[in-house]
Amino acid sequence: MKPVSLQLSKSHTPGNSSTLVVFAHAQKSTATKSGKSNSIKISLPAVQTLVQPAIDDKSITGKAQEVCTFRAMRMDGYTNVIVLSLGTDKTAENARQAAASLYSAIKSLKTTDVCIQWDGANLGKKELASTTQAFVEGLILTDYNFDELKTKKKDSEDKALSICLETKFATDAAVKKAFKDAEILGQSVNFSRRLGDLPGNLMTPTIMADSIVEAVKGTGIKTEIWDRARIKKEKMGGLYGVAQGTREEPRFIILRYNGGAKGKKPIVFVGKGLTFDSGGISLKPGAAMEEMKYDMCGGANVLGALLAIAKLKLKVNAIALVPATENMPGGAATKPGDVHTARNGKTFEINNTDAEGRLILSDALCFGSEQAPQMMVDAATLTGAIVVALGNTHTGFFTKNEALNKKIQTAADKSGELVWRLPLVDHHTKDMKGVYADLSNISAGKGAGSATAAAYLEQFVEEGIPWAHFDIAGTAWATGNRLPYCPKKGASGAMVRTFVELAKLYQ
Ligand code: BES
Ligand code: ZN
Ligand code: ZN
Repeated sequence: MKPVSLQLSKSHTPGNSSTLVVFAHAQKSTATKSGKSNSIKISLPAVQTLVQPAIDDKSITGKAQEVCTFRAMRMDGYTNVIVLSLGTDKTAENARQAAASLYSAIKSLKTTDVCIQWDGANLGKKELASTTQAFVEGLILTDYNFDELKTKKKDSEDKALSICLETKFATDAAVKKAFKDAEILGQSVNFSRRLGDLPGNLMTPTIMADSIVEAVKGTGIKTEIWDRARIKKEKMGGLYGVAQGTREEPRFIILRYNGGAKGKKPIVFVGKGLTFDSGGISLKPGAAMEEMKYDMCGGANVLGALLAIAKLKLKVNAIALVPATENMPGGAATKPGDVHTARNGKTFEINNTDAEGRLILSDALCFGSEQAPQMMVDAATLTGAIVVALGNTHTGFFTKNEALNKKIQTAADKSGELVWRLPLVDHHTKDMKGVYADLSNISAGKGAGSATAAAYLEQFVEEGIPWAHFDIAGTAWATGNRLPYCPKKGASGAMVRTFVELAKLYQ
């Protein structure tokens, strides 16, 4: 599918089948001469008269994300007119969702050229840049459609779609930057989503590594990719042990971006890159097992975040680490009861081979700690328990560091992604003690499966490093109808935007 082409311009000339987008604003009701109150003001007065019947019958009420389409209007050279509402509470997230509603309306019109009269949105100077960014992000995120594996594409007859944001502030530096940043962010999220949506046979660890090597070209990001032999040599017993069960080559992916001062401590992002999780010898039940192609979304999303950080030229030194492998029950697979040794020398017994995410992440967290970071965060589709606790609305996160917690809340407020802190205390750590080895990969207790998984991960983070773990098992894909700019079933790109906002706080 060809991505939508977006422009920011002071003026727009309509083409053959063009659509004009204007805005509806709810007014405080005032009595008019006729006794009727006109509660909705349309940003283009000429449109007001034309759409008044729709206002009168309450098709246009001015509430957030409302879209009303008028075909064959012939208004100033435009064939169609869409009246869009941002609502009274002009938050960035509302703008993102309004863009998604608008995008769907545009698609059903089969128009090829759209002009959004952005000045009609009545945005104050302060909110103009941030709303522009969120709105453009919303358009790009909604434009994502994973159909590359179909021979007959849904959009194949559609001509290329071009959308113009028309504003007198088109040359204003802050607005231009907001527009460009939105493009970078939106495209980076869509990059991550595509990796997630590709099935296990087409998104192997090797393909994942090759994809990012290709994508970083021209960004200044340096890549280093380790193969099975190197992973063994580097004493990554967690990753190596999980990869024993598959003939598919594992990879340890290292990305480095140096946008900060030389010698400035890096920030490290770690992501679970399990390209297919069958459960291993502790085989998963068959139902919905195909969804386990998404078990690499943590990895895909930190790769997307680093791409965005580099393209935005943030003044930070940032590293992304992705341990990537399949979890399969091959003849050489790790068996329940087996004991392996992680990179930091800690031994662990595997009592359930399906709790593999923590094993591959453990070595990556050791390696991350060796980089002496200012802070380290990881994202992983780690536990089914987080889906029970938080469903698909919030990403659960764990940290013992209060300063980092504050920064995460600030970053998530900015990105509009919902996160929820969950408790991590020493009781959880005790549950992860091994009988025959230092650690067990499953808890001795019942319940709090996401927290005990976090406690396991903590064993591989060097003391003193501010660290947080994000369990995205509920939010990485299939967010349903909750977010109009996310595919109902497919990968969401969860935490790409939040991690980029977090990186900004370390500039
Ligand atoms: N990849 C799964 C977690 C998962 C489950 C993600 C459902 C999304 C939806 C992970 O590797 C896993 O299987 N975890 C086990 C851990 C258990 C054996 C302690 C789980 O959550 O059941
Ligand atoms: Zn598993
Ligand atoms: Zn898994």
